[in-house]
Amino acid sequence: MCGIVGYTGCSSAQSPLLEGLKRLEYRGYDSAGMSVLGKDGILHTLKAVGKVRKLEELASQTPLEGACGIAHTRWATHGAPSEKNAHPHLDGASRIAVVHNGIIENYRDLRAELEAEGETFRSDTDSEVLPRLIAKYYSDDPVRAVEEALQRVRGTFGVCVLFQDHPGLLIAARSGSPVILGIGKGFNMVASDVCALLANSRDVIYLNDGDLAVVTPEDAEIRTLANVPVNREISRIPKEETGSGKGKYEHFMLKEIFEQPESIGNTIRGRIIPEDGNAKLSGLNLSPRELAEISRIVIAGCGSSLHSGLIGEYYFEEIAGIPAEVEQAAEFRYRNPIIEPNTLVIPISQSGETADTLAATREAMQKGATVAAISNVVGSTIARECGRGIYLHAGPEISVASTKAFTCQVTALWLLALRLGRNRRLSNELGRQSCAELQRLPELIQRVLNQYDHVAALAKKFSGMNDFFFIGRGFLYPVALEGALKLKEVSYVHAEGYHAAELKHGPISLLGENVPVIALANCIPGQEKLLGNMQECRARKSPVIAVATEGDPSVEAFTEDIIRVPETSRYAAPLVTVVALQMFAYCFAGERGCEIDQPRNLAKSVTVE
Ligand code: G6P
Repeated sequence: MCGIVGYTGCSSAQSPLLEGLKRLEYRGYDSAGMSVLGKDGILHTLKAVGKVRKLEELASQTPLEGACGIAHTRWATHGAPSEKNAHPHLDGASRIAVVHNGIIENYRDLRAELEAEGETFRSDTDSEVLPRLIAKYYSDDPVRAVEEALQRVRGTFGVCVLFQDHPGLLIAARSGSPVILGIGKGFNMVASDVCALLANSRDVIYLNDGDLAVVTPEDAEIRTLANVPVNREISRIPKEETGSGKGKYEHFMLKEIFEQPESIGNTIRGRIIPEDGNAKLSGLNLSPRELAEISRIVIAGCGSSLHSGLIGEYYFEEIAGIPAEVEQAAEFRYRNPIIEPNTLVIPISQSGETADTLAATREAMQKGATVAAISNVVGSTIARECGRGIYLHAGPEISVASTKAFTCQVTALWLLALRLGRNRRLSNELGRQSCAELQRLPELIQRVLNQYDHVAALAKKFSGMNDFFFIGRGFLYPVALEGALKLKEVSYVHAEGYHAAELKHGPISLLGENVPVIALANCIPGQEKLLGNMQECRARKSPVIAVATEGDPSVEAFTEDIIRVPETSRYAAPLVTVVALQMFAYCFAGERGCEIDQPRNLAKSVTVE
């Protein structure tokens, strides 16, 4: 989603700003812009609809020379993607430039007030009220003006402000949208995502909600919006978190699919105690007694993280014997959920910044639940606010469509269920079986990855089809949802995931020779019933692609299009199965010439509700 970069130093701001924007591209956006305070003492702004490369072309024709600037990638909410709606937005006199992430909920009132005072807006955005409000409160104290303007705002913001009259000064603030400072030697930076800073600095400061930072090349002074000075620690981002390029792969999605043996290995590393049949999750920070007191689990997430949560529900109930339920994070807050003292709430979020999941986290904390997050991004808002949880250590996930974070989330949920189970009635022997299989996961996943060429051929064969159903049962039902989501996300075809039995209750009317069904037939138990469901699809002339266990001949009666996965327990089955579906979605999108890493309209981290 929207991205912010700011730079103040002594060399040219343009290149770190563009570099930062490029590193934010993976989040999804539809326009980009940048303002730099020129050597002539005037703010110069460039904007382009589409990719950052277009902005870069403009900047190579008309370089913005100056050592202090702000830049932005916009994902349209209020107003279409267009140059006039792209950030930075300026005040009426073009002396104050602002980039903003989030949503100003009371912007209509503020805009009406400012228009009544004679302001003429240039864009359709909510964000444009900010520079105009700041200008309204500005006489000679820029910090005071930003504070006063932000006090008028309802909604969420991460902002960075540049003043023509104050060379070298950036003012940043956050409330509900991340802002991070990058600390350098002779320069400082501001960004909405740590990725945008890493080419220049690994020393970062995470602002808290309600913080305002006054940033110059030499200094970064932080206070609250109520003007109380605060101290925020500098964190050093470990080298392995800084990510690398696509390497030998054509797309990040493919790279991340192939990284899964390693990323899952990282999630389990140091966390398995084979002899005890148990898992060690120190980030949970809960004593055995506190763990034993958990009587119910509520999981909240969005998108792929919601689907991993649905698999977690099976783990918690089967392995730990704890009732579990999964909530769409977007509904959690508004449904006024029942949270009892012994409820453990688990927000799941790769980015740790998804607005709905963050809102669910806060709601659960406020209701007194024990809240432990499963997140990939170290230092993300959800992880920091929970203060306890499980980091995935999957490494940066750049492709918008989640792959390795999903499988690491599932692995983390399995580990947690094991930990909770061993705290209860799960025997040492069953615990050891889980440990042994968890340790084998990298090898099992690798065997699925070895099927890549075969999956690619199947994707080619079906690449003319525009409607797909994915069906599964038990642990593989959420995988059917995730497989359909992957296909939709990257190839823009209609795909629906269904419980295999539910297909009969309506969707079966849509089946036919142009509507393939991808049947997840490697489920044990329930396989016989699933074979019956495949039969029902064949009877309606739908082509069937089956995911089946190596050596199992039972699906061959229905189809010759089979993806083989290793035989596993039902706990590991979701992991091997989903990898096959990720490869199918990737290859299918490639056949159809889609933009794989940054699919249209999608954002990597959805920071608006
Ligand atoms: C967006 C992404 C999805 C992701 C979802 C939740 O929609 O495109 O890939 O699953 O957000 O993101 P999170 O970071 O909270 O896991």
